[in-house]
Amino acid sequence: MPIIDVTTEGNEEFYKGWYYPSTEWKIPGPKVVKLPDYYSFDLEKMKAQVLDIKNNYGFEPFPIKKDGTKKRRTYKGIGLTARPDANNPLYDSLHLYSKDGELDITDSFDVQALDTADKTVVPLYEKHFSEPTEIFKGYIAEVLGKFKSPLTKTRILELSPKGIITPHVDFPYYEQIRVHAVIETNDDVYWEVEGEKFRIPADGNFYWFDTGRYHAVWNDGKTDRIVLSVNLSIYSDRDGNPINRDISIDDILISDKL
Ligand SMILES: [Fe+2]
Repeated sequence: MPIIDVTTEGNEEFYKGWYYPSTEWKIPGPKVVKLPDYYSFDLEKMKAQVLDIKNNYGFEPFPIKKDGTKKRRTYKGIGLTARPDANNPLYDSLHLYSKDGELDITDSFDVQALDTADKTVVPLYEKHFSEPTEIFKGYIAEVLGKFKSPLTKTRILELSPKGIITPHVDFPYYEQIRVHAVIETNDDVYWEVEGEKFRIPADGNFYWFDTGRYHAVWNDGKTDRIVLSVNLSIYSDRDGNPINRDISIDDILISDKL
């Protein structure tokens, strides 16, 4: 029997300043969208390369403390991109950064979970994940090559049984969006965005869900969940110049312009 109980409802106010009318950017209509077939791929071929990477390099746990003293047991990954100056490029993307530098989970997730006036949000900054790592090749590179926007933090992420990514927001869509392709899953893996709970199938498609709204992910099953998690900077290039400004978020998600 599933036992994990997570809710993402009733926590919208603290990040409303990211969106209209505080800014010109309207909140997207949908909370989850399957990307067009243009981005679809051969799941078995992708799975073979991902498992090959897992076997040859290994996934590392996410740090909880940036000094590395505490690590997550149920959440691991490896990076397809890294910062240009990374010491350990393959695992650089397991660290969290704001514009002001590296964050502990306590600086980002925990301050969002507060039930007090101190509840706040520190948007993640991930545009400096610009360099492909040594595993960015082969079929993965071919599939990711269909995206036209700058690819920023891009990872393979494994959530073990009973793993929970607690409710949080990451960044508004006009900074980046995050799209996922599910490589391995089970019937009890769930995503939830502000009360809308859904499953994402491992079906050779990419899906966007709104990581700029309060969301959570959990694995209540008995097998690992593995995703390809891809950040795209769809509204500005790496130098900050505007791109795609004539197309709304709802429309770009169903286009081949991502
Ligand atoms: Fe997230």
